[in-house]
Amino acid sequence: MARTQAGGRGGSGRTGSGGSGGSTVQEVKARLSIVDIVRRYVDLKKASGPRWMGPCPFHQETKPSFSVNEEEGFYYCFGCQAAGDLIDFYCRINGLEFKEGLAQLAEEAGVEMTSRRPDPAEQMEREKRKVFLDMYAAAREHFRRCLHGPQGGECREYLARRGMTPEIVERFALGWAPDEWQSLADALKAAGFAPRAAAEAGLLSSNDKGHIYDRFRGRLIFPIVNLSGQVVAFGGRILSSGEPKYINSSDTAIYKKGDHLYGLHQARRAISQTKRAVLTEGYVDVLTLHQFGFENGCGVLGTALTSTQVQRLGGFCSDVDLIFDGDGAGRKAALRSAEMLLARGMNCRVVLMPDGEDVDSLLQKQGAEALRQAMEQAPDGLDYCIRAVRGSFSPKDLVEWAIQFMNALDRPDLISYYSPRIYSGLGLSEAEIRSAQVRIKQAKTPHAAQRPQARSGERLIPQRKHERYILSFAARHPAYVPLLAERNADLLMLSPRARQLWDKIVAHGETDLIPYLDEREKPFVIGEYDKRAERSAEHEEQREVEFEEICRFLDEHFTREHLRAQTDVLRSLSGERDFSKTLEHLKAIKDSLGRKNG
Ligand code: UTP
Ligand code: MN
Repeated sequence: MARTQAGGRGGSGRTGSGGSGGSTVQEVKARLSIVDIVRRYVDLKKASGPRWMGPCPFHQETKPSFSVNEEEGFYYCFGCQAAGDLIDFYCRINGLEFKEGLAQLAEEAGVEMTSRRPDPAEQMEREKRKVFLDMYAAAREHFRRCLHGPQGGECREYLARRGMTPEIVERFALGWAPDEWQSLADALKAAGFAPRAAAEAGLLSSNDKGHIYDRFRGRLIFPIVNLSGQVVAFGGRILSSGEPKYINSSDTAIYKKGDHLYGLHQARRAISQTKRAVLTEGYVDVLTLHQFGFENGCGVLGTALTSTQVQRLGGFCSDVDLIFDGDGAGRKAALRSAEMLLARGMNCRVVLMPDGEDVDSLLQKQGAEALRQAMEQAPDGLDYCIRAVRGSFSPKDLVEWAIQFMNALDRPDLISYYSPRIYSGLGLSEAEIRSAQVRIKQAKTPHAAQRPQARSGERLIPQRKHERYILSFAARHPAYVPLLAERNADLLMLSPRARQLWDKIVAHGETDLIPYLDEREKPFVIGEYDKRAERSAEHEEQREVEFEEICRFLDEHFTREHLRAQTDVLRSLSGERDFSKTLEHLKAIKDSLGRKNG
């Protein structure tokens, strides 16, 4: 049945977008105003026509160089050239992936994200997450009430003893879980939540007999919130010196350990303004950082820094001060964390704490200036890595370290930036590394088959070899060629020879390809057929995996290219200060992007 009313701005109720992700985007943009969203983060003032101006949240500046065009739905910064639409803005300022940002905005706008087929299992999962979030929000309120109520005396004294101000306690919504078996359980029941569900959500525990009771008892509660400000987990510290010192929520439908950074929600504004973050290890450390004016502080919480966390930080800033214990374990963790940041093209400094101190104790005892000094004297991340590796690795480990460091870089510009620095820093020659690299590769591939097994998330297709890789897949599986062509794989056949063979595969498929091949193409294609025959015993899955790997490569490649084109255009235009022209170009790029992505 046709909809009688178009879902315009201000339309009430939930409306299915009735189609692909593309129309969700349009519907979200139609219902939300870019100015309303941006104003939550930026102090915008009305300028001429449909334009609003303010200080840019993406670079450090007080001049109003950030312009939002309400009519066109775009923002643009004359200072740092950041530009995009409502969804870009929201994702960038919150450090979100496109899909995640879109989902949150859709939720806010009351637009349902309909996938092609509504999936009942997915729907149930979504509802479950919603209930979990509501439960966690209710639990936070309960803990908070307990902290500030008659039961919370001991905990309030503890906080005061540790020098935490009421502002910080409030800002991080700290709470108190009374030392009782049914405190939260009763509160959740009263709020209408089933104890079973609360146990599944990790808020309550249950024993063998099915008895359900409070999981957090007699603990100071630290809510862990996601970037939308929703509570997704708790950490709880015992007040005495008992064990364990902290208990944390385990993984649930709404929380995965290692995906979040403690305090990032509160710190993100300072981080995206200063383009710097301070990363530390503990709950209390984060609070104390904020209390002493380091409002860009956040914490990794008891695990090693994960790549998801690095990605989140990378959405906001490019400089990180890593703070670690000065002991052996701390130094090792610092090395690993610095490597991960550097591999993403971010800068860092490594601040090691003096023996027996952490950020919290240092700040409480010696004040902000002491930490500031320690930061200024801290070695740059790359220097730190090189010194750490030179100081404690055997020659063999040192070479291997250099190789794995270089292998972790996935951008050619980073490779050329780091290679001379790493080689000379470690006193190695490039030739030495290369020959070791070959030796290691051979040692790791004992069988004749050179092709690595595809595992998801692993980069299989080397940047410069993609032409051959795709071509060899196409030769083995011509049935996939139209699918690859749809994704513009042909644009990547850069050499005339590759292009020629690609065209032949497209034109002749498999059945009568051979007669058309020249003397150099024939052995290549037949060799590929051979490989296929050899591997036919393998799962069909492998072929799908390879195909998906190529698709992912293509998508990433073209997104990167378009972004580069977009930045180039903006850079060349920024001299003109002509906003309408900039918008025209942006739109053209967006349109072509839209077409590319179907
Ligand atoms: P620390 O033992 O250094 O504690 O653990 P802390 O943060 O300095 O806490 P205070 O100052 O004694 O109150 C560092 C971090 O490791 C995690 C917590 O995230 C903690 O903040 N941790 C530690 C746990 O998850 N469980 C534990 O039992 C201990
Ligand atoms: Mn501490």
